[in-house]
Amino acid sequence: MDEIETPEPDKARSVPAEWWRSAVIYQIYPRSFADGNGDGIGDLAGVRARLGHLAGLGVDAIWFNPWYASPQADAGYDVADYRAIDPVFGTLTEAEDLIREAHALGIRIVVDVVPNHCSNAHPWFVEALHSGPGSAARDPFWFREGRGADGELPPNDWQSIFGGPAWTRTVNPDGRPGEWYLHLFAPEQPDLNWEHPKVREEFEDVLRFWLDRGVDGIRIDSAALLMKDGELADFDPDDLPVPHPYTDRDEVHDVYRAWRAIADSYPEPRALIGELWLPDAERLAAYLSPDELHTAFNFAFLGCPWDATALRQVIDETLALHAPVNAPATWVLSNHDVPRHVTRYGRADTSFTLQYRQLGAPTDRALGRRRARAALLLNLALPGSVYLYQGEELGLEEVEDIPAALRQDPMFFRTHGENLGRDGCRVPLPWSGQEPPFGFSPADAAREPWLPQPRGWRDHTVEAQTGDPDSMLELYRRALACRRGQSALGDGPFAWLPAPDGVLAFTRGSHRAFACVVNLSGRPIESPVAGTVVLGSGPLDEGWLPPDTAVWVVPG
Ligand code: NOJ
Repeated sequence: MDEIETPEPDKARSVPAEWWRSAVIYQIYPRSFADGNGDGIGDLAGVRARLGHLAGLGVDAIWFNPWYASPQADAGYDVADYRAIDPVFGTLTEAEDLIREAHALGIRIVVDVVPNHCSNAHPWFVEALHSGPGSAARDPFWFREGRGADGELPPNDWQSIFGGPAWTRTVNPDGRPGEWYLHLFAPEQPDLNWEHPKVREEFEDVLRFWLDRGVDGIRIDSAALLMKDGELADFDPDDLPVPHPYTDRDEVHDVYRAWRAIADSYPEPRALIGELWLPDAERLAAYLSPDELHTAFNFAFLGCPWDATALRQVIDETLALHAPVNAPATWVLSNHDVPRHVTRYGRADTSFTLQYRQLGAPTDRALGRRRARAALLLNLALPGSVYLYQGEELGLEEVEDIPAALRQDPMFFRTHGENLGRDGCRVPLPWSGQEPPFGFSPADAAREPWLPQPRGWRDHTVEAQTGDPDSMLELYRRALACRRGQSALGDGPFAWLPAPDGVLAFTRGSHRAFACVVNLSGRPIESPVAGTVVLGSGPLDEGWLPPDTAVWVVPG
């Protein structure tokens, strides 16, 4: 195999203060992390009580999914008040305390801002409905007359990303059927009109509100969807118009340039992180220009099958995409929207796309876990930052047998169950004990966890895994500690090494002080790198590296 070397990074930009270039960022889905008050739903009290777990794990930052006041129609991605904490999670004072306590442990905080849409309970939308057609209160949204003789048909043929039409008809204050409004997600999530100056001003103020409270980064939800073509014309999803009527429109970059100026106005570094599901690498890189976002989630990597050729290609493409804009790459395998990777990696098809969720396929869990362990060492050794989704450190699998009556995800309901949705990766974490709620809620909790936990999770609790050298949790702890101690890891030089087919091998650091080898070949191999093995995702077999196993090596 030939060798490709990436250039030395610009040292001026890779000062440690630019924490997002190397950080390990742990995603907390607040409903499911830990329940402090016993109502069966995770909350800030639960997080504060478990910060020690995260400090012990060795993460650099936490990203919180939305914690704002919300009717929870889409688990908090329907925000009614961007400056208040939902009472189910706690209070603003608790959030401020949490930020302070995390900082005291050296952990940074990232909050999730949802600019594409708000909740139908947001005061602006309530007022818009109340004020009726033609009123200025409707201008921050997309209200339109329907088509058909009586306006009984939606204004266009756009479909919601959660299934069904992207329009809902309103009822006028006089009780008669009225205009329709656009919602790219659920009807409870009306899209905001980003051409309206009030929308821009509001979100700039919301950014300052949280940055003033010391948050270190902002994750931007549905970051490519904000701008719409005001024509609102029909389109054929199999023959997409360019530019797309609502995805990745050029005008959105103005919004992020303004946001970057705000982030840069703070003395300590603040990061803007884009949720951008875009297939075109150049279009994606445009968001990472030095005057826009700092980083974006690497969804190409997340969706890549467990295959050496495909992974090498996506790694090369990722590095090639980021180098010209001098943005750090990110590596991510799971989040609250996708089936857990332990499960994906145990299947015949290990890839993932948003369009195709393979649910219920036969799964070899032991194989999935072995690969997930190897993938951890791969991710942590690649240049850039790494996202971990809560529970992956416990090796949790996707829960696919949640009864329909207990499911919560609007995606499940809007597709009439055709798509099982995302509840299976959102099941509350198991902390301790032999029975549900496994320490997720206090022993005297009034309610059961909001989604049922599999009984088999008794073997996956933090308690059960702590001290077991072979457990997933102890591997994560060792790997994160080791990464911290290796100055060659995180941001910095990367070079492929020659390796047999099906094997990924690369060095890190300007003096090639560190190497990672991952065997995806399906047969044992002799490591192509000589030296001291500092960490393995599984045991070696008399010096041979078994299939689906990775090692970190200090060459010598
Ligand atoms: C992306 C979020 O990750 C997802 O959970 C949410 O449903 C949609 N955006 C809508 O806000």
